[in-house]
Amino acid sequence: MSDDLQISASILNADFARLGQEVRRAVDGGVDSIHLDVMDGHFVDNITIGPVVVEALRPHAALPFHSHLMISRPLAYIDAFAEAGSDLIVAHVEADDDPGQVVDAIRAAGKVPGLSLNPDTPVEDITPYLDRIELLLVMTVQPGWGGQPFRDDVLPKMAWLRDEIERRGLDLPIGVDGGVNDETIGAAHAAGGSVLVVGSGLYRHPGDLGPAVADLRRLALADT
Ligand code: DX5
Ligand code: ZN
Repeated sequence: MSDDLQISASILNADFARLGQEVRRAVDGGVDSIHLDVMDGHFVDNITIGPVVVEALRPHAALPFHSHLMISRPLAYIDAFAEAGSDLIVAHVEADDDPGQVVDAIRAAGKVPGLSLNPDTPVEDITPYLDRIELLLVMTVQPGWGGQPFRDDVLPKMAWLRDEIERRGLDLPIGVDGGVNDETIGAAHAAGGSVLVVGSGLYRHPGDLGPAVADLRRLALADT
């Protein structure tokens, strides 16, 4: 997965009554991927979508689908999300299943594996897996809802992970997920984020998302 600057549209704050059109709006706006927030009501206190929705959305975009599994038992659902049309599947190191087994299962399903860690999870919980994944998704909100404020206290942890990735000579892009918008995207990118997930910061705009996406790209580079 290339690690130049990518904007990934999270549909969490899109109009769920028109998700197909909302995905197309993001595609037409020029984003690089679609970020699908999956929640099971157990790992987080919210329930969103499952494989059937990923399958329904698949025909609306040729862009990569990143399924972000905020679920306690990812091993049980990886094949279903893979068959539904996910290109990249991200699970949480805090989930019940062993992260190494989850990564192996995602690869066995023919998909790109990623792991995510919550804002208060120590880096030691994910460093054993850095050489086995192709996206490191750093949460800058406590997962569960869109529209939360960006936690800039996570930035030092992100910068440490960026340096560790460089020390190890890994080609591993860092995703940043939660509260990324015009105001925060510069700091997120400067701390090492290259796959920048934006939900409410995009979908708060009606109509054409092109100008909003262009602004996000420009502002991401402004801090460097
Ligand atoms: C939170 C989700 C994120 C995110 C998207 O659990 O994983 O994808 O919050 O929404 P915004 O950009 O509004 O924070
Ligand atoms: Zn997400």
